[in-house]
Amino acid sequence: MAVDLLLGLQWGDEGKGKIVDVLTKNYDIIARFQGGPNAGHTLEFDGIKHVLHTIPSGIFHKNAINIVGNGVVIDPVIFKKELDNLEKFDIDLKSKLLISRKAHLILPTHRLLDAASETAKGKAKIGSTLKGIGPTYMDKTGRNGMRVGDLEMEGWKEKYRALADKHEAMIAFHGVELQYDLKELEAEFLTAVKTLKSLNFIDSEEYLFQAQKEGKKILAEGAQGSLLDIDFGTYPFVTSSNTTAAGACTGLGVAPNRIGEVFGIFKAYATRVGSGPFPTELFDEDGATMGRIGNEFGATTGRPRRCGWLDLVALKYAVQVNGVTALMMMKGDVLSGFEKLKVCTAYKYKGEKISHLPYNIESENVTPIYTEMEGWAKDLTQLSAPDQFPQGLNAYIDFLEKELEVPIKIVSVGPDRTQTIHR
Ligand code: IMP
Repeated sequence: MAVDLLLGLQWGDEGKGKIVDVLTKNYDIIARFQGGPNAGHTLEFDGIKHVLHTIPSGIFHKNAINIVGNGVVIDPVIFKKELDNLEKFDIDLKSKLLISRKAHLILPTHRLLDAASETAKGKAKIGSTLKGIGPTYMDKTGRNGMRVGDLEMEGWKEKYRALADKHEAMIAFHGVELQYDLKELEAEFLTAVKTLKSLNFIDSEEYLFQAQKEGKKILAEGAQGSLLDIDFGTYPFVTSSNTTAAGACTGLGVAPNRIGEVFGIFKAYATRVGSGPFPTELFDEDGATMGRIGNEFGATTGRPRRCGWLDLVALKYAVQVNGVTALMMMKGDVLSGFEKLKVCTAYKYKGEKISHLPYNIESENVTPIYTEMEGWAKDLTQLSAPDQFPQGLNAYIDFLEKELEVPIKIVSVGPDRTQTIHR
């Protein structure tokens, strides 16, 4: 049985949480494979709005097993808060939520290091969510990290101390003012580790291997977006993991030839939080309208998101890198009421028209070339079938499918589970 993937194709915040939640009924296992609590996956159902950061978005379905894979980085403190927030839902977390022993731990000093590093960068800062993601992955690739499995070993506290002490020296190296009480942070960390240890730790690659053999249906849930990928994103304004399809192989131990469908999620327009290039960014009333109607504020940080027209050059790149087999367009409803819509189909780059993503997409290097389309006035939020779509929306979808050469299988017209139209 193949493992299906679900990935964000832009700069994150595409609505992956909602779609995983919608699709979970078709799967036995939902597995997160990268990133950490920098993610904020928002789910809305039965009048409830819930934001998950590390826990997979299948957690609200009775029959699904949720796995936090080896590629994920876990902050026990944030994880504990997520677990506390789930208490009211009466979920049997011990059997429904399994954690890879090989997942790395975010220590309090990783978070501090993130803050020190960002402050020291000044104007060149990444705009990190400051959850300690970069420093934790640095320790992972530097072969210094602490893993979930270490918590089952004797002497993990000594290992913790040595790493935290090293981090303190590194924080001092940055030479910036940081106010913190490490003792307090450590006490909170130790309490949270106890909670984490109340869950089941597993050898997740073996678990998933057996599950595949037994014919279980598995969905790998991505976090962030392809343009934030450490290799293929807008480096250095990226996150520190592989957010693209290959990340599911390394972040779960799934072989490439076991991958089935690759579902690519994108918004009908584009947004970005944090710093970094964004060729189609709008600084006008249209951008402000998208932000207002789309409620574009970070689910993790609350920061307003930058908004702009859909960038097909970047989207095509993401479709190619991931091998997307089916597309899902989110927030189509936000574009209702725009008289004209623009879609970027090429860039002007060094005096030439190009239709691929070049090395350097800073605004001084690329100017988007737009195709203009008629908008639609109809409110989409109450629609339930594609035959109710206004002409403008159909034309928009047809145009994107032709350009991207992949079918758009789902059109989302609102945040609720029920506002999901299959085509
Ligand atoms: P970090 O991964 O927290 O260090 O953040 C690095 C960059 O990725 C920043 O620009 C963040 O705003 C962005 N980022 C990280 N996680 C997310 C996410 O889940 N959604 C959108 N942007 C994100």
